[in-house]
This record gives sequence, structure tokens and C-alpha cells, in this order.
Amino acid sequence: MKNDLRIAVFDTKPYDRRFLDEANTHFGFSLTYFETKLGPETARLAGGFDAVCSFVNDDLNEAVIAELARMGVRLIAMRCAGYNNVALKSACSCGIPVVRVPGYSPCAVAEYALGMLMTLNRRIHRAYNRVREGNFAINGLMGFDLRGKTAGIVGTGRIGKTFAELLQGFGMRLLASDPCPDRKAAETLHLEYVPPETLFRESDIVSLHCPLTPENVHLINRNTLNMMKPGAVLLNTSRGRLIDSAALVEALKTGCLSAAGLDVYEEETDYFFEDRSGEIVQDDILARLMTFPNVIISSHQAFFTREALTNIAETTLKNCADFAAGRKLENAIALNCGGMKSCPGKEPGERCDPPESLKKTVNP
Ligand code: NAI
Repeated sequence: MKNDLRIAVFDTKPYDRRFLDEANTHFGFSLTYFETKLGPETARLAGGFDAVCSFVNDDLNEAVIAELARMGVRLIAMRCAGYNNVALKSACSCGIPVVRVPGYSPCAVAEYALGMLMTLNRRIHRAYNRVREGNFAINGLMGFDLRGKTAGIVGTGRIGKTFAELLQGFGMRLLASDPCPDRKAAETLHLEYVPPETLFRESDIVSLHCPLTPENVHLINRNTLNMMKPGAVLLNTSRGRLIDSAALVEALKTGCLSAAGLDVYEEETDYFFEDRSGEIVQDDILARLMTFPNVIISSHQAFFTREALTNIAETTLKNCADFAAGRKLENAIALNCGGMKSCPGKEPGERCDPPESLKKTVNP
């Protein structure tokens, strides 16, 4: 099969290319891979392409989108679920649809969040290091039973619900907050929707599964950290800027939190996905977080499973194929309700799709 859409694929690693090349045997697009991220300095590389394919740490700000439009780029295909790094309004006004890959593997991220929780709680990371050094003492490695504890899930979309499903197996009490509560899931998963303040006050574990929107920046801040149960565990597999990292350092220093699992970090762009082992970390907050024995930082890898990469590659190229064929863009992003304080006119549990007016703008 041959498809004449020319796609510039940014911020690629060998694993991206492998999965995209495999999926592309069914589509036949012309894919050109760039190692560099897409941003103000690199936007001109997209000249001569019909579409750009971007990832989580590319910077598609207003100026970049204007430059893409000027060069004739007609589609932005995000190969991820989050889209906080895209100036959506600019894309809409330039008439460039933005597509993404929603829910490529909620299990991948939910299972990873659970892995972080288990590791932090039972100090498996520390035990691993101790034994390798010939230290078989278990002093200081005590955890707690999950059964009977309360987990607070912030955001009950695809990943949050999958995480709830996993925690249910441990016999935990599950609290949730979401501006669009899913009443059906609440029933089947025994989730209790509560206001965010109640969730913070009553949860032993708080796990973030909401998108980064302007409203959600620093959702976890000094105030909300102060509300949390002393010794709570905080997990973030969503986006770094949901947490005020300086406030997090303080909360860890005072013991207000007993542990934090961070797969994302607010200033991750310069570090995550890269080998910086020969360099000095210039980000003092990241460097401080790396010193805590009760903090696990990983490099935005929660999504990183075979199944997820297969799904990401196939859905990304299908989104491009739909665009090329003038079909409806099922995965087009418009200004959806993620992050809005309420969802007017929605029934509980109803998905919050973009309004018709915006759909028209983003679909060719
Ligand atoms: P989704 O769109 O299915 O669900 C997000 C939910 O969060 C929605 O129900 C929305 O109403 C809710 N929400 C928005 N603002 C909220 C707030 N202030 N408080 C509580 N709930 C709020 O998204 P999905 O697929 O579950 O993904 C969640 C996030 O996970 C993504 O936005 C992305 O940032 C992150 N992610 C991280 C990955 C990683 O590798 N670490 C991989 C994939 C996604």
C-alpha cells in the first residue's frame, strides 16, 4: 500500500522507529524521523511535510504552530494521550487538526503506578541495593498492608478507573474526585466520589490521573499537601506540572508525605528520555528529589510496554490515514472538558466530547 502523506516524526528513539515502521507496513506513509524535539528552534525542519508527529516533550506553542501553518503542515498527530504541550487554540485558528492516541494502554500506566506504590511501600528499591552490597538487614524496610487502607484517585478517566480496578483487588477503600464523575464506574468499582479536599484528607495514597490543563497546574501545592494525611504516599504518573515540586520537597523534608513515586517531573524536558549520566544535574529541585530514599523518580516510562507502543504506532498512523482520506477524525482533540470545574449539560458518566462547534473546526 502507498500513501502520499509526508510525515515528519519528531523526538524519535530507536523503539519509536521500530514500532512505527512495523505499523507503517499497513499504511505506506513516507515517514521521516528526527531525533530532535519539535519546538521553536526546530519547527523549520517540518517544511515540505504534510503532517508532523509529536511526543510529550515537544513544544507546540503558538509561534511553532503559526510556523507549521505557514509551511503548509496540515495535521498534527500526537503519538501520546496528553496534549498539554500543544497550543490548541492556535491550531484551531490555523485550521490544523490535532489528533492523539487516547487510551492506548490504560493498563500500562495503571500497572506502573501500582508497581511504584508496591516498591515504595515495601522498600523494594532499597532492599535490592542493600543485598547487592551484601547488606541483608531489614531494618528500616517496614511497610504497611494495603488491605483496608484508603486510596484517593484524582481523575477517573481510562487510567484512573483501571488503577481503581487493580486496587480493588487489594481490598482497599477507594475515593475519587473528578469534575465528570462516572457513576456507573462508581458502582462497579465501589468508588466513592468526594470533593478533592476530602480525598486529600482521608487518603493514605493519592494517585494523580488527570490531565495537565491550565486549571490543573500545581493541583498539588503547599495547601493541598498540608491537607494530606501525615505519612500519605503521593503518586504521579500523569504530568509533572500537576505538582509544585518545591512544595513537594518541603513536604518530604517534614515527613508530611512518607513517599512519592514520580514518573513525571515539571521540568522533565531537558532530562527525561536522555542519558545524562556523565553530566551534573543543574536542576536543584530534581537533584534534591533524587536524594530522598523514599522517592522513586522514573523517566516518563509508565506507558512503555510492547502493547502500548504497538497501539500508539497503529492508532497514530490510522489517525493520519483518516485525515488523508477525508474521514471523520475520531481522535481529534478540541477543547474538551478535562480540567473544567464542571461539565454543564452532561449526565454523570457521560464522556465529555468536544462541542459540535469545535468538532467542525478541527475536522477537515
Ligand atoms: P482521560 O481523559 O481518560 O481521563 C482524565 C480524567 O481526569 C477525566 O475524567 C477528567 O474529567 C479528569 N479530570 C480533569 N481535571 C481533573 C481534576 N482537576 N481533578 C480530578 N479529575 C480531573 O485520560 P487518561 O487516558 O486516563 O490519562 C490521564 C493522564 O495520564 C493523561 O492526561 C496524561 O497526562 C497521563 N499519561 C501519562 C502517561 C505516562 O507514560 N506517564 C501515559 C499516558 C497518559
